[in-house]
Amino acid sequence: MAEIIIVPTPEDAGRLAGTAIADLLGARPDAVLGVATGSTPLPVYDDLRTRLAGRDVSRVRAFALDEYVGIDRDHPESYHSIIQNQVTLPLGLTPSLVRVPDGQAADLERAALEYDEAIRKAGGIDLQLLGIGSDGHIGFNEPGSSFASRTRVKTLTPQTREDNARFFASIDEVPRHALTQGLGTILEARHLVLLAFGEAKAEAVALALEGPLSARVPATAIHLHPHCTVIVDDQAASRLADRSFYEYVFANKPAWQGL
Ligand code: PGA
Repeated sequence: MAEIIIVPTPEDAGRLAGTAIADLLGARPDAVLGVATGSTPLPVYDDLRTRLAGRDVSRVRAFALDEYVGIDRDHPESYHSIIQNQVTLPLGLTPSLVRVPDGQAADLERAALEYDEAIRKAGGIDLQLLGIGSDGHIGFNEPGSSFASRTRVKTLTPQTREDNARFFASIDEVPRHALTQGLGTILEARHLVLLAFGEAKAEAVALALEGPLSARVPATAIHLHPHCTVIVDDQAASRLADRSFYEYVFANKPAWQGL
């Protein structure tokens, strides 16, 4: 079972995930991180800014989960720009070692294949950060995505476009397609860390953690992974039926066991 950790605030989650990432980089200075965009991972990046300050992170490699198709890579809301401004520059990573899918490639299918190949050549992702969409997506793997899917183009659901409209001047500007790591790609990462905050995620979290395994809720794919840590705040945990059990398990976690 995925480890489910319920914390009071997103900042607490940021500290836990930040510690796990800093420990990984301490053990492997050239570790491969899977980085995510959206509001959810921001407390992790905030934590890492101070936690990694002064440390040599020049060999750290990173792959983003996804990128919009149809907006310029220099658009402020492209994931290329966001990863650069929220991850690469603030954490001091080496820009050439941080990759984002090429949503502007003339041949998107080829770009997708090359992205999976680049992850493979890097030796695979050590730790993959994940958010969850209100429709249960991870990456941009929308409902119906195959658990075996590889990096490819997906059509964003109307709900995802509405959720992301807050980043754009109007919903009409939100792209309709994205290049995203597939669920099969994500499941190859050695450690998944899924985060969710706020009431708006409570239903998706309950379906992902306690519902039946279903392509309709792509985040249920995490149950196929042997090492997945889910960190949610009180509000995102509010619809979990077995909440007290998860709290009991965490409270009794052996001291030797890290995340
Ligand atoms: P959010 O998006 O972090 O902005 O809520 C999460 C996601 O869509 O995966």
